[in-house]
Amino acid sequence: MTEWGDGTRCVHAGSTEPVAGQPFLAGPVLAAPYHLSPGHPGADDFYGRAGNPTWRALESAIGALDGGLCTVFPSGMAAITTLLRTLLSPGDLLVVPSDGYYLVRTFLTGLDVRVREVPTVGPWTAEAVAGARLVLLETPSNPGLDVCDIAAIAELAHAVGALVAVDNTTATPLGQRPLELGADVSVASDTKAVAGHSDVLFGHVSVTDEALWTELQRQRTVSGAIPGPFETWMVHRGLGTLDVRLARQAENAAALVAKLRGHEAVADVRWPGSPDDPSHAIASRQMRRFGGVFTFELASAELVTRFVRESRLVSAATSFGGLHSTADRRAHWGDPVPEGLVRFSAGLEDSHDLVHDVVDALDRAVGGPVQ
Ligand SMILES: Cc1ncc(COP(=O)(O)O)c(C=O)c1O
Repeated sequence: MTEWGDGTRCVHAGSTEPVAGQPFLAGPVLAAPYHLSPGHPGADDFYGRAGNPTWRALESAIGALDGGLCTVFPSGMAAITTLLRTLLSPGDLLVVPSDGYYLVRTFLTGLDVRVREVPTVGPWTAEAVAGARLVLLETPSNPGLDVCDIAAIAELAHAVGALVAVDNTTATPLGQRPLELGADVSVASDTKAVAGHSDVLFGHVSVTDEALWTELQRQRTVSGAIPGPFETWMVHRGLGTLDVRLARQAENAAALVAKLRGHEAVADVRWPGSPDDPSHAIASRQMRRFGGVFTFELASAELVTRFVRESRLVSAATSFGGLHSTADRRAHWGDPVPEGLVRFSAGLEDSHDLVHDVVDALDRAVGGPVQ
């Protein structure tokens, strides 16, 4: 049988067989200790830091979408840092994107490892991965939305004995399946589109190797970096609509990108979904679909402030992938990008409302004084 489509897979991911009188998605199991069976230790859950059925349901759902074995974490950073602490020993060489999510580089200053920074666009040569224990990629990168060829880099890295992990936050498991492209690890912040409602922080790591999966689960138990069952349940609930949310976000992004390209106040619009974007050739080969995040540049920070003030639908927020359209001026957070660079996350508003509002707000921002 052919594989189910994305919508079907999201709705049914991690579901159990229907049982009369039982809910579609079982509620969160809120347990610190569990009752022990007389003959414990057995296979039962015994303590909430070590195991929880609500985690397992979501791990089975995300793992199925990623095509791997999943471990959930209380945030994207908890997922990434647990992965790095699990895989790296003192003195190991880690390759990281110089233009990826900035907190990863901040975390590394406290780790006793050697770090080589490579831009997402490369050059990805044998020298770039030489001596590495782990190559961490972020594609599309945040905030630049550059893209690199996961399969080609995995081949290079594996040839020198390095593992490859991909931060798949921007793409989501529906947009890209790094494990199928040859990566060993797919790691993500599910705070963004996977949870999708701007009300929970979450993360996960999916891997192909069972021993690594067991070790990640053990590290989570030992470190105590565990997600709350209620948050886990919220993410599972949100995951059911990921396909339709991404579709509307991508439709809105495409409509906005087309309009903004022709606007006099806007420069350098980037969206991997645009056929004329520098990242499109690789993105369209390795991505299954595009999302709602794009970037553009206004002439100054002040102009960005005016634009957000003038908009009735877009608010400033430093996340992406949620129901609401948001704009984030990345230089504000210290990213090495132009002062007026905006990372825009298209929400689920009606396309014509959003396009009208954004163009109107830009027109007024350009014409009017700062309030
Ligand atoms: C690409 C990427 N990776 C990781 C993270 C960290 O995730 P979290 O905020 O859930 O800890 C973020 C957050 O913005 C991100 O954009």
